[in-house]
Amino acid sequence: MDGLYPAMAGGALEDIVSITPIGDPRQKITVASLRDRKLQHQPITCLTAYDYASARLVDETGIDIILVGDSLAQTMLGYDNTLSVTVDEMLHHVKAVRRGVKNAFLIADMPYGSYHLGADEAVRNAARFMKEGGAEAVKMEGGEKRADLVRRVIDAEIPVAGHIGLTPQSLNVMGGYKVQGKSLGGVEQLMRDAVALDRAGVACIYLEGIPREVAALITAEVGAPTIGIGAGPDCDGQVLVFHDILNLTFGAPAKFVRRYGDAAALISDAVQAFRADVVSHQYPSDNESYHLSRETQQALETVLERKRGMRR
Ligand code: KIV
Repeated sequence: MDGLYPAMAGGALEDIVSITPIGDPRQKITVASLRDRKLQHQPITCLTAYDYASARLVDETGIDIILVGDSLAQTMLGYDNTLSVTVDEMLHHVKAVRRGVKNAFLIADMPYGSYHLGADEAVRNAARFMKEGGAEAVKMEGGEKRADLVRRVIDAEIPVAGHIGLTPQSLNVMGGYKVQGKSLGGVEQLMRDAVALDRAGVACIYLEGIPREVAALITAEVGAPTIGIGAGPDCDGQVLVFHDILNLTFGAPAKFVRRYGDAAALISDAVQAFRADVVSHQYPSDNESYHLSRETQQALETVLERKRGMRR
């Protein structure tokens, strides 16, 4: 007789490596399954999410990786750039996203300043994202110069996602959000960055704002899956920012952004309609109201009548 779990079908308990019910169409995404995707040339999908509701919707579509990016500094908190957001602010969002995610691989961004003061501090902060936030990996910006730090964090049993190219936390050093790796020297540096992170053992490498030709070279060179954003179609996967694809960013989108919906219009229309209904007494209707039972209403009438009689 077949059962839901192998043990119930007579399998020995020690043989069970997973208690995922038979027939569950979705598999939990792991570091290993991301590597398999690269080997099998199956594109990896990644989207940012910053709260419970959006994380749950994104996860239920079958997206492979959910990134709680420090871009939440702008999209959720209204800061000008990513530099101000703190570990505690990031953690607040990572915890909410964790509660909405079942199958996607959950990566938390380490914010600026949380891994720049030394390896001990970096490991301590990364461990908070795992222990308190429930993340499955942390992301850090920077290549060759971060390789030793990345190794230290991985040694603490924390998977790390690398991030090279246009790294927004280096805004002031780069002198703006500029495409990186356009000169021969720039290409060579990016190759060194990618190889150093790969050798350090990263789970994947985000490639942001670099020429597609360079992204293709890196993707062919490294074992870790590459996830591109503004890096062309030859990466192992693609990531976009949730607010960008839904027109929730209040500004002109970058060249690589494709809009898949207009949540701004949807929200605006709904809020305007609600406001108009309240102002014109159309909301709430009788059907949207609670009522007393007939008996209580009759008893109330009697009480009110008696009070009116006493006042006369
Ligand atoms: O913070 C973020 O959203 C990111 C992605 C753009 C890769 O780092």
